[in-house]
Amino acid sequence: MSAGRKALVLHGPADTIAGSGEFARAVRAGLCASPKRLPCCYFYDAAGSRLFEEICALPEYYLTRAEREILLREARAFAGTFSGPVMLAELGSGSAAKTRILIDAFLRRGPLRYAPVDISRSALAESSRALLNEYPELQITSVAGTYEDGLRYLRRTGGEHKVVAWLGSSAGNLERDEAARFLRRVAEAAAPRGRLLLGLDLRKDERVLLRAYDDAQGVTARFNRNLLARINRELGGRFDLSAFRHRAVYRREAGRIEMHLVSTHAQQVRIDALGLTVRFAAGETIHTENSYKYSLPEIETLARDAGLRLMASWLDREQRFSLNVLA
Ligand code: TRP
Repeated sequence: MSAGRKALVLHGPADTIAGSGEFARAVRAGLCASPKRLPCCYFYDAAGSRLFEEICALPEYYLTRAEREILLREARAFAGTFSGPVMLAELGSGSAAKTRILIDAFLRRGPLRYAPVDISRSALAESSRALLNEYPELQITSVAGTYEDGLRYLRRTGGEHKVVAWLGSSAGNLERDEAARFLRRVAEAAAPRGRLLLGLDLRKDERVLLRAYDDAQGVTARFNRNLLARINRELGGRFDLSAFRHRAVYRREAGRIEMHLVSTHAQQVRIDALGLTVRFAAGETIHTENSYKYSLPEIETLARDAGLRLMASWLDREQRFSLNVLA
C-alpha cells in the first residue's frame, strides 16, 4: 500500500460511459444522422487525451502557449483578489499543466482545494497523483465525468470562494448560445461569490487557424481518427482508419473551425456491437467538432447573454488568445 495521500475521486455517471451504453447510443444516433456527426466529448479516452497533450505542444497550436503566457503574467494578481479559503474547480482539466500556474498563485495566499473535472478517468488519475506529490498542502477532490457531473458537484459543495477555470478555448467547442447558457449555470453553481476564468481563442487570419487544426506532423489527424479507433476498440467497429482523411475547414461568417473525417471512397462499415452497417459515399464526411473563435465584442455579448459581468479580458502579446474573468 502506498503511504502517499490520495485524491478523493467522485465518479459521475459518465465515468462508465462505454459500459453504460452512452457511447453506443451516441455513435448510432450520429452515424445514422444526415449529415453524419459524432459528439466531440468522446475524443478524450486515454489514447485521445494523450494525443491531445501532443497537440498542445505542437508548434502550430499556439493556443496553449498563449494562454500559458497570460496565466504567468496575471495569475498572481488575480489570486491576490481573494481572501479566505478558495476552491478552484476546473472543467476539462486534462493534464492540468497550465493549472499549476494558478495553483502556485493561490497557494501563496492561503489554503486551496482543487476540484478537476474530466471525462478521461486516466488523465484525471494521472494528473491528481502528480499534483499531490508536487503540492503537499493541496487538497484535491476530482470528478470523473461530464461537465454536467462537474456542475452537480459544484452546486452541492460549499464554504469556500469558488473559482471555476474553463481553459483552452473548450467553451468554443459549444455553439455560441449553448456556451452562454452553460456559463449562466456555472455561475449559478458557483454563487454567491463565484468567479469564472474563461480561456477563449480569438478570431484571426484563416491560415493561422487552419495550421493549428491541421498540423504538419499529422497529430491532429490522428487525434480526430482516434474517434473511429475508439469505435473499433469499444464497439467492435471495422473502420479502416486509412480510409478516412482529417479535414479542417474555417467558416469565416460563423467564426468557427470545423473538424471532419472524410471517407476517401464509397464504403460500408460494420459496427458489431450495434448490429449496424453504415454506408459512406466517396467524399462523405463525419462532422466531429466545432471550435468557435471570438472577437472582443463577441466575448462581451457572450458575457451579457450569460447574465455575467466581464471584469477583465487579458490577451497575450501577439493578441491571439484571451483569458477572461467573469462574475
Ligand atoms: N478545445 C480545443 C480547441 O478547440 C480542442 C481541439 C484542439 C480539437 N484541436 C482539436 C478538437 C482538433 C478536435 C480536433 O482548440
